[in-house]
Amino acid sequence: MTILVTGGAGFIGSNFVLDWLALGGEPVVNLDKLTYAGNLQNLASLEGNPKHVFVHGDMGDAALVTRLLAQHRPRAVVNFAAESHVDRSILGPGAFIQTNIVGTFQLLEAVRAYWGALDASAQAAFRFLHVSTDEVYGSLSKTDPAFTETNRYEPNSPYSASKAASDHLVRAYHHTYGLPVLTTNCSNNYGPYHFPEKLIPLMIVNAQAGKALPVYGDGQQVRDWLYVKDHCSAIRRVLDAGRVGEVYNVGGWNEKPNLEIVHTVCRLLDELKPRADAKPYKDQITYVTDRPGHDRRYAIDARKIEQELGWKPAETFESGIRKTVKWYLDNPDWVTNVQSGAYRDWLAQQYGGAQVSGTAAMARSS
Ligand code: NAD
Ligand code: TYD
Repeated sequence: MTILVTGGAGFIGSNFVLDWLALGGEPVVNLDKLTYAGNLQNLASLEGNPKHVFVHGDMGDAALVTRLLAQHRPRAVVNFAAESHVDRSILGPGAFIQTNIVGTFQLLEAVRAYWGALDASAQAAFRFLHVSTDEVYGSLSKTDPAFTETNRYEPNSPYSASKAASDHLVRAYHHTYGLPVLTTNCSNNYGPYHFPEKLIPLMIVNAQAGKALPVYGDGQQVRDWLYVKDHCSAIRRVLDAGRVGEVYNVGGWNEKPNLEIVHTVCRLLDELKPRADAKPYKDQITYVTDRPGHDRRYAIDARKIEQELGWKPAETFESGIRKTVKWYLDNPDWVTNVQSGAYRDWLAQQYGGAQVSGTAAMARSS
């Protein structure tokens, strides 16, 4: 038995693959296009592990996915692959439409053909788990109740609209073709291997570099934060026991305004790695022009996954953010390689100069 993971070199996907194998899960075939957000260094500890097969390629490459499915016969597909950064989606929505909508559609088509040819018991056991976001539900006012699974979809950014479209396709493949799908809609994640374009890692990295800490607008937008390993445990639980065709919201009941997050990161850095001039890192905060169409508040009502599947996060925000800041302080090489772009050479190093771009697939145990 194997599972096929897409986007397993990104932030959440790499945490998922590392935890899955550490916990003794089945072998993983990890299909990742290695966009700027994919980083094989995240998976360096799996070097030589025969249970991890990395494949450089596009989930939208139907011929490649068809071949991988035929070769590895996975019992499940977990779809993390996406363009994931809201600001990038505002600057260039095309890649989001292509990857998140067309790519998911192509993946679903290949999986549908594979699943359709399985015998009845393998068909019944198969799962397609689609990893999505709370952003599909739109923005809440201060007093609105948190998002439940029955909230209307009201995406506001090209990113969330493209994720919403992919969720609808996944749903349709269940209702129309019977594909056994599961969808998770999670709140904002933070933790190790988070690309420093997103709020928390950007603040940690900029603070240490003596750079400005850019807070959009008034900094009072609210996000609901979940430690990435708790998201991974929720995905494992849904994959194990989720009811086919159902949607599960995933969150840790940790709503915080952005400014509070930035202050917390600054305070932890003051404690763990004080500035040379002994001044507080919060002096580096600067208010910058707000993001266009900036959603004011996200909040997840996680009662369904808690009550139905018995899942609960292991970390509080306080324990998770401390671990996260420490991880960045303990891994300066990872940060330096990401900032310099050297992480993109990892593939060339690993594969001895083999082709690293385009859709040509390379499969290899790593
Ligand atoms: P990420 O941007 O860090 O990683 C995405 C990964 O997908 C990268 O490794 C990239 O190379 C790969 N990829 C992109 N296009 C691909 C393609 N066509 N084929 C194969 N691989 C491709 O993203 P992330 O933060 O790890 O998010 C993973 C998933 O979780 C996404 O679907 C995202 O929408 C969802 N999500 C993220 C958050 C969050 O806070 N980061 C919260 C909820 C849901
Ligand atoms: P981000 O990490 O990009 O996640 P998302 O937009 O998917 O929620 O941003 C989290 C919040 O932080 C969001 O309200 C935008 C804000 N933000 C800043 O204030 N400054 C920044 O430099 C970034 C990247 C985000």
